[in-house]
Amino acid sequence: MRLRRIAAADEVIEKSSYVVHEPGKQRGHWQELFDCRQPLQLEIGMGKGRFIIDMARLHPRINYIGIERYTSVLYRALQKMEVLRQEGQMPTNLRFLCIDAWDLPDIFAPEEVERIYLNFSDPWPKARHANRRLTSEPFLCRYDKVLMSDGKIEFKTDNRELFDFSLETAAASAVFQIEEKTYDLHRDEKMCQGNVMTEYEEKFSSRGNPICKMVLRRQPADTSYTASSRGDLLREQ
Ligand SMILES: C[S@@+](CC[C@H](N)C(=O)[O-])C[C@H]1O[C@@H](n2cnc3c(N)ncnc32)[C@H](O)[C@@H]1O
Repeated sequence: MRLRRIAAADEVIEKSSYVVHEPGKQRGHWQELFDCRQPLQLEIGMGKGRFIIDMARLHPRINYIGIERYTSVLYRALQKMEVLRQEGQMPTNLRFLCIDAWDLPDIFAPEEVERIYLNFSDPWPKARHANRRLTSEPFLCRYDKVLMSDGKIEFKTDNRELFDFSLETAAASAVFQIEEKTYDLHRDEKMCQGNVMTEYEEKFSSRGNPICKMVLRRQPADTSYTASSRGDLLREQ
């Protein structure tokens, strides 16, 4: 994404009540920020925010946090929220963070997040930049630290190389299982059910690019034991 510095962005973000300014202080207490205690889902690299804003409006029984590292991009999402506020339609179950996703474990406690959405993440095509991809192994380890057991990651892209890399990384993971995948989401009746389009998804699918999607489920090794068998194991030690 080409970025242009927007002079007003810093000030608008600073004053916005939708943006959490010291997110580390909320670690373990994110539910207190919202009207209702309900599952917490994140979009990492939300861009201009269309997906997460639409999700929040469609699913009021879920709390959402949109994460974007660039102020000039987050500013666009805040402009959309302002339009909704003026129309009396802004969702109350949505907040934004201007952070790098690398810092997730400093901001969310273990098991605090139910689901993570990664939509059209930057591909970082050079091999030496592979660890910057949001579906690389170092990032999966960060997600493992904040997701609930059974928590999910949903990833969409039109970039086939990035998708293949992401599938390989997930297949090699000891923690995440590939639950579902498709190489053509918009023609996959089951996986496309309830699909909410992102800005990039609309742009690339209108050019005829098929959209790939995978869903990963977190399944740490020890969750294969029931609570009582874990108790037995502890007593045997
Ligand atoms: C290609 S855009 C996709 C935007 C949106 N998800 C969509 O599908 O329309 C990727 C976005 O991810 C953001 N991003 C990339 N790496 C990030 C990171 N480590 N932490 C937070 N945001 C990141 C970029 O700044 C950019 O806005």
